[in-house]
Amino acid sequence: MECFRIVGPNRIQGEVTAGGAKNAALPALAASLLSDGPLELSGLPAVRDIRTMRHLLGHLGVESEERAGVVRLQATDLARPDDAPYELVKTMRASILVLGPLVARLGHARVSLPGGCAIGVRPIDQHLAGLEALGAEVQLEHGYVTARARRLAGGAFRFTVPTVTGTENLMMAACLAKGTSVLDNCAREPEIRDLATLLNKMGARIQGAGEERIEIEGVDRLPSASHRVIPDRIEAGTYLLAAAMTAGEIFVRGAIAADLAPLLEKLAESGCDLEASEAGLRLRRTGELKPQDILTAPHPGFPTDLQAQYMALMTQATGLSTIGETVFENRFQHAPELGRMGADIHIHGTFAKVHGPTPLSGARVMATDLRASACLVLAGIAAVGETIVGRIYHLDRGYEGMELKLQRLGAMVERLPAEPT
Ligand code: UD1
Repeated sequence: MECFRIVGPNRIQGEVTAGGAKNAALPALAASLLSDGPLELSGLPAVRDIRTMRHLLGHLGVESEERAGVVRLQATDLARPDDAPYELVKTMRASILVLGPLVARLGHARVSLPGGCAIGVRPIDQHLAGLEALGAEVQLEHGYVTARARRLAGGAFRFTVPTVTGTENLMMAACLAKGTSVLDNCAREPEIRDLATLLNKMGARIQGAGEERIEIEGVDRLPSASHRVIPDRIEAGTYLLAAAMTAGEIFVRGAIAADLAPLLEKLAESGCDLEASEAGLRLRRTGELKPQDILTAPHPGFPTDLQAQYMALMTQATGLSTIGETVFENRFQHAPELGRMGADIHIHGTFAKVHGPTPLSGARVMATDLRASACLVLAGIAAVGETIVGRIYHLDRGYEGMELKLQRLGAMVERLPAEPT
């Protein structure tokens, strides 16, 4: 199994470009199922989740080719199969994003239930209840969701929790429903706005994406479109945190300040200098890091996908910080690994108390999920000596060439084909 070998401490200095947002690219790819015309997408990050989604779409009959950074998808003939098998869904929960488009376009779909994952239970009840509100008949059988509807009908649905992929699934399904749909308590992440922009370019009539209420007037057909996905705010935030943690200086080209507001606020309060421009974000830290509490929440709250990396930062702040996780129930698995590197972290239910600053020392650690892996890489860069981060296949799901980007920023990080014995 591949791993990262990091020799620290290093100071992060220089410029990096944020890649396209994985979480915007995944629903954008799934949107190709809605159209019989070509969909051209650019800015897709070269990460494993994107390859998995393209593989799944290929299985469903979508033809795709890539030329000069543009992926052209054509879903003309989707006759059979209509199923997303367990083997693919289990490696990537976002596979559920094909459910809404498939049932809207074909009138039937069969998608494996994703099951649990390392960071929590993550049910899909809201996706299913939402499709039922649009007239689909939904059944759970043999580990699969089957959804059927001759044609979906516009309807009203209120999410009991604001789910990101749930909102995206329903928004896509409602585009081809007969009549108008009104979705309430929707998730408001920037990636949802980006998907609506793409769908509207395809001919959909969506209003309010990025707000709590989204209205969708169904259309009969969605012709072709071209779209570039937004930059990845989580990747950008990870590099900003790496610079903040190592008293460095970084310019993240492409980072959008408005999409990162909750993180930037905390970084400024903890003593970092920040400068936002059209081109990107600059961060510099020269003084001491002040501890700042965070509580993760759906957008525009502090993103759960940056919680682990922020915890790594707080190990270097002078004093006590409290980190609360409200989105997922089991998302502190990086804390004991940070502890093995010298961090002083105590978990009380969904809160973590971090006492800093603690010198970190290199150790063998193991990644348990995508963002936890990034947290351990950051800790390894700040730590004295050699750190081996195992199971970096998690990292490769969502970070494009992370070791190469970090090397250019001054970190001694290399990918090894196997963990040293
Ligand atoms: C998306 C992101 C993921 C991020 C998460 C929260 C993608 C591909 N992934 O995941 O990186 O960590 O948002 O920002 O965009 N829930 C239910 N019932 C449902 C659906 C969700 O109870 O039907 C709960 C979940 O268990 C969780 C909360 O709602 O507690 C938010 O989850 P959700 O927004 O759905 O996460 P994802 O869309 O899977």
